Amino acid sequence: MKRLAVWKEERERDISKMQSLLKFITCGSVDDGKSTLIGHMLYDAKLLFTDQERSLELESKVGSTGGEIDYSLLLDGLMAEREQGITIDVAYRYFTTEKRSFIVADTPGHEEYTRNMAVGASFADLAIILVDASQGLLIQTKRHTRICALMGIKHVVFAVNKMDLIGYDKYKFGKLKIDIEEMIEEFNFSTVQIIPVSATVGDNLTNKSENTPWYDGKTLLDYLETIDVTENEENKDFILPIQRVCRPDRTFRGFQGQIASGKVKVGDEVVALPSGEKAQIKSILVTDREEQSAFKGQAVNICLDKEVDVSRGCVLTSNENLTVSNMFTAQILWMDDSELVEGKNYFLKLGTKMTPATVMKIKYRVDINEGTHIQTSKLHKNEIACCDISISEKIVFDEFKKNKDIGCFILIDRVTNMTSACGVVEHALRRGNNLTWHEMDITRDIRAKQKAQTPKTLWFTGLSGAGKSTLVNEIEKRLVAGGKHTMVLDGDNVRMGLNKNLGFEEGDRIENIRRVAEVCKLMNDAGLIVITSLVSPYEKDRKNARNIIGNDDFIEIYVSTPLEECEKRDIKGLYKKARNNEIPNFTGITSDYEPPKNPDIIIDTTGKSVDDCVDYIMGELEKYEI
Ligand code: ADX
Repeated sequence: MKRLAVWKEERERDISKMQSLLKFITCGSVDDGKSTLIGHMLYDAKLLFTDQERSLELESKVGSTGGEIDYSLLLDGLMAEREQGITIDVAYRYFTTEKRSFIVADTPGHEEYTRNMAVGASFADLAIILVDASQGLLIQTKRHTRICALMGIKHVVFAVNKMDLIGYDKYKFGKLKIDIEEMIEEFNFSTVQIIPVSATVGDNLTNKSENTPWYDGKTLLDYLETIDVTENEENKDFILPIQRVCRPDRTFRGFQGQIASGKVKVGDEVVALPSGEKAQIKSILVTDREEQSAFKGQAVNICLDKEVDVSRGCVLTSNENLTVSNMFTAQILWMDDSELVEGKNYFLKLGTKMTPATVMKIKYRVDINEGTHIQTSKLHKNEIACCDISISEKIVFDEFKKNKDIGCFILIDRVTNMTSACGVVEHALRRGNNLTWHEMDITRDIRAKQKAQTPKTLWFTGLSGAGKSTLVNEIEKRLVAGGKHTMVLDGDNVRMGLNKNLGFEEGDRIENIRRVAEVCKLMNDAGLIVITSLVSPYEKDRKNARNIIGNDDFIEIYVSTPLEECEKRDIKGLYKKARNNEIPNFTGITSDYEPPKNPDIIIDTTGKSVDDCVDYIMGELEKYEI
């Protein structure tokens, strides 16, 4: 009886493994024959409906294959692709054999579609990388392999296609095999299979080919049906990124999310991060059923035996040493049309956490074909780079190679809401972790009281020549006359000292504003009223300055004098030079100025006397009681 039960259990386990879903991606360039490969496999495996088969035969008659069946028509589903004869987006196909279900992502292979391939690869467990036997290992194969490795694919099949074109030559195949094995040495794949095939003829797709008697491995379909891609979850930490705190009434407080790794049972001790508080699992709900345990992939609602500080973006885990930090080094793939500039602020989404973050430094760009490192301060669409990223608060994450779910992230543009990049964490930077903020006995409050004032930063923004510096000068005089302690930070002046090393390209302007904002904060801490005069043309940088200085202490004053008036005044003669192309990136001419959407004070100096403008601003400032 017992033996029968063991047999049954084993059988069921095997069946369920076989029937498990395999998600894979096909990578190859235009003429490698990727769509043909999958199309032909489906056709041979009798996985098409009769009408699909019939329409394929009919369509092929009018196509470019001279009446032979064009199997790629099955896969190149999008009209535009068919017209151009190439695959331009990610096309997902579903099919099921007796042994297994499959989802295949068919992605374009040219360099300009790197990001599409990355999207396809991010969902896949296995990649079929096509190699053209008649051409040997090409740069594009290296690129495809690198992208798959970057996106965490652990299992690869190299389908050495077009064997018919090289006369099924065993030795040529052998040489290619060596080349492939050498190429993949730098990557850490769990399984690699190299299969000689012909997508058009059908060798080794579903049936063993008589043309390759020297190949004793599995056919492609057989291999796909039997490969085990499940990860060993045995000793993995339990990790649950919290998606939602569920509080239907006072008596129930559950933490909802999908288990990212490991398993958990009632009674286990878990730690809530970043807070570090410990608690025991009181109950586990899987949908509406109460369970004693739960495992990776399940969506759960967990109750703890005591109140802990947990909200969306926090993590419940069995490993109290999981990284909690505000800085890491990552590999990112840039996906945005506009380029990445160091210092720019984005939203970072990692697990269930979304928070502002800055790409502090591009350490190097990776040549995606060759893997070499190139120094750069900019990143264009489809390029990969290693960067240091600083996050506005401490969050929970792990290295991607240890934990896919909390080791990858996306960067979102704060203005356009577009996904600008996807990335994987290489390692945490402890730099931030090993610093401690020292509280001093003499506080900002005490320093301010001593001066009998409320420290604020009056942030003047506007075009060059709008009248900022003139107004700032007069406002400071009025404040000093009223007994206030002040300091002015003027763009031109600061750029002659602290920011001597910065120019006017976007990245440098971002850094200019960041540094000045940090100085404002320090001076406010010293009890001073700070007045700045900076073009500060970008909305997001002014927002960043507001974040650094603190919303309550930041007063944005927009000097809205229009461009025509500023250009007419042209006190420094800069507009003239800019019009003559003598100054690159000149605000208003060859570089944008984004007007503040909600300035605290707005003043157009056109046709007004300095005194009138200053009176107006001083009047507006009264409500801040500085
Ligand atoms: S910001 O854009 O980074 O805020 P900032 O206020 O420090 O600029 O400096 C602007 C001043 O630098 C202008 O008043 C002008 O005198 C000078 N300048 C020189 N080149 C440029 C330029 N390309 N764009 C704007 N201002 C420039």
